[in-house]
Amino acid sequence: MVVGKIKTLIFGAGGMMGRELCSVFPDAVKLNHTDIDIKDKENVIESVKKNKPDVVINAAAYTAVDDCEDNKELAFEVNGRAPGYIAQACSIVGAVLIHYSTDYIFDGNKKEYKESDSPNPINVYGSSKLMGERHIIKNMKNFRIIRTSWLYGAHGKNFVDTMLRLSKEMDSVKVVDDQFGKPTYAHDLARKTEDIIRLTPGIYHITNEGVCSWYEFACAIIDNAVPCTSDEFPRKAKRPKYSILLNTKTSPMRPWREALAEYLNKKNNEVIT
Ligand SMILES: NC(=O)c1ccc[n+]([C@@H]2O[C@H](COP(=O)([O-])OP(=O)(O)OC[C@H]3O[C@@H](n4cnc5c(N)ncnc54)[C@H](OP(=O)(O)O)[C@@H]3O)[C@@H](O)[C@H]2O)c1
Repeated sequence: MVVGKIKTLIFGAGGMMGRELCSVFPDAVKLNHTDIDIKDKENVIESVKKNKPDVVINAAAYTAVDDCEDNKELAFEVNGRAPGYIAQACSIVGAVLIHYSTDYIFDGNKKEYKESDSPNPINVYGSSKLMGERHIIKNMKNFRIIRTSWLYGAHGKNFVDTMLRLSKEMDSVKVVDDQFGKPTYAHDLARKTEDIIRLTPGIYHITNEGVCSWYEFACAIIDNAVPCTSDEFPRKAKRPKYSILLNTKTSPMRPWREALAEYLNKKNNEVIT
């Protein structure tokens, strides 16, 4: 149990989640990719030993799902082995580790997945993220692995912003209607992360609530989306048909439509910093 004022260190502070986390943990030691490469084991251990944090949050990852297919070694190093280095460092200083994983560790053959369900990734990104989970579990006890899905937010390339751009550029935007998941606002997840620190070690499924297809998600953003099948829109990496994460362990976050409305409203009013 973590109590009182905590010292936090964030890896991946320059990414979409990382920047949201920097707002929630303003006093944290914030390390972005130019400050440290998490593949560098010695450096990771040294920086954690030097800063002596109570909590380490790892938001660094190689997240380009299709590119991972062509850059397997890099994917397994960044998403697979590096989280193990961070876990070793946390174990040395006695820090809690918060690490983000993904719905893509599941194959999508089942409709919904509990935290205890068996993973079976169908692409390199998912396999590399699953390796990361396993290296953490092997190297330390006091971890919280947060699996999330379909993230969007103010500080990174994401589906919502892509839809808004394509909608202006094209008469109609084709979007797949046969993959289902739970859109998640990075801002909500960053705030929820604070609560998760205080929960018991383990794996958590944290998303906004409610399920949709990518097409249904698009229809909530733009008015010129048209449905298509995954076969009509081939991608390098296979995606699970269903990747619906069930949260059976902690209080739910708000519905995705409510979170999306807030994000779109902020964008309209240009108050996103
Ligand atoms: N985005 C999603 O839809 C989604 C869904 C489920 C789970 N997740 C998980 O959520 C977490 C946060 O994702 P995100 O969307 O915030 O990703 P992101 O915007 O791509 O941020 C990842 C950050 O990690 C940095 N990074 C990459 N390789 C690194 C390395 N070797 N050393 C240090 N930093 C490195 C990147 O820097 P550069 O840009 O300079 O490479 C980037 O700033 C990840 O664990 C991801 O797997 C994301």
